[in-house]
Amino acid sequence: MKAKLRVVAVLLLCCAFLCGCQPKQQAAEPALVLGFSQLGSESSFRIGNTKDIEEKAKAYGVSLMMDNANQKQENQINAIRRFIAYRVDVIAFSPIVEEGWDNVLTEAKQAGIPVILVDRTVKTSDDSLYISQIGADFYREGVMAAEYLTKKADELGKDKLRIVEITGTENSTPMKQRHEGFWDTVANDSRMELLESVNGDFLRSRGAECIRYLLEKYGNQIDVIFSHNDEMTLGALPEIEQAGYTPGQDMILISIDGGQEAIDLLKEGKINCIVECTPMLGSLLMETAQAVKEGKPVNRVIHPVERAFSSDEDLSVLPPRGY
Ligand code: AHR
Repeated sequence: MKAKLRVVAVLLLCCAFLCGCQPKQQAAEPALVLGFSQLGSESSFRIGNTKDIEEKAKAYGVSLMMDNANQKQENQINAIRRFIAYRVDVIAFSPIVEEGWDNVLTEAKQAGIPVILVDRTVKTSDDSLYISQIGADFYREGVMAAEYLTKKADELGKDKLRIVEITGTENSTPMKQRHEGFWDTVANDSRMELLESVNGDFLRSRGAECIRYLLEKYGNQIDVIFSHNDEMTLGALPEIEQAGYTPGQDMILISIDGGQEAIDLLKEGKINCIVECTPMLGSLLMETAQAVKEGKPVNRVIHPVERAFSSDEDLSVLPPRGY
């Protein structure tokens, strides 16, 4: 009996010793595990957003599971299901479109995993399916674009401006809200006439296709091109020049995002106005996710501060954009 007790005591001592050594051998626990589903890589905004989130995760000691959905909602839903199965602390995602998320978000809620929306928002039947949305005020971006045009029309003394609009991805938040913000703002201005609104899916190649179609149909009737992002504007520009027009002079070009390539063309006078849409949302995301994990209250909607850039200001003092 005594011998048996001695064996048990030795085993317990060994266990205590091994346990005591363990913390020194283990790597530090990450502050939190965050699953993030990025919608794709369609623009410099998107690529800058992915990079910023990866960099900020490292800086904040967050273990990041990043998935790129390559422009497919189905891929985003599958990624969110994988994050649930992995039991991450927080799920974040940039929804490609607004509708169709209720089922997967209900699954996350049932698993007790909080969800943060990044950049765009969703339409849900149950507001408790996500905690917070961190992203631009897209409606305000549309308003800023229209305010620039109103001022420009006054300066030029125009009594008519015929506008073509190249919109972003159908049923996405920026597409809907930028359109509404712009047209609500000029609704009572009889100088503003919409020739046609076409969908360019936020892609450079589609921007080129859309403007080719519009130039063929309306030619020199076009006074203004309102493009929902830089990428489509960059696709449209060579087509405008090839058709014999001087962008920025024969046609007023208004774009959204403010990436470096577009800002350089604004400086050259080929684009007249760019409304900023910043992809630098990484710090806000890490801080919000950390607060959510700790059970602290967070704001339902978090908008970064944004502004419009135009050829009316000294653009030489602008620091590099970083995207
Ligand atoms: O959701 C933000 C928009 O998505 C950006 O304006 C655009 O460039 C991106 O693709």
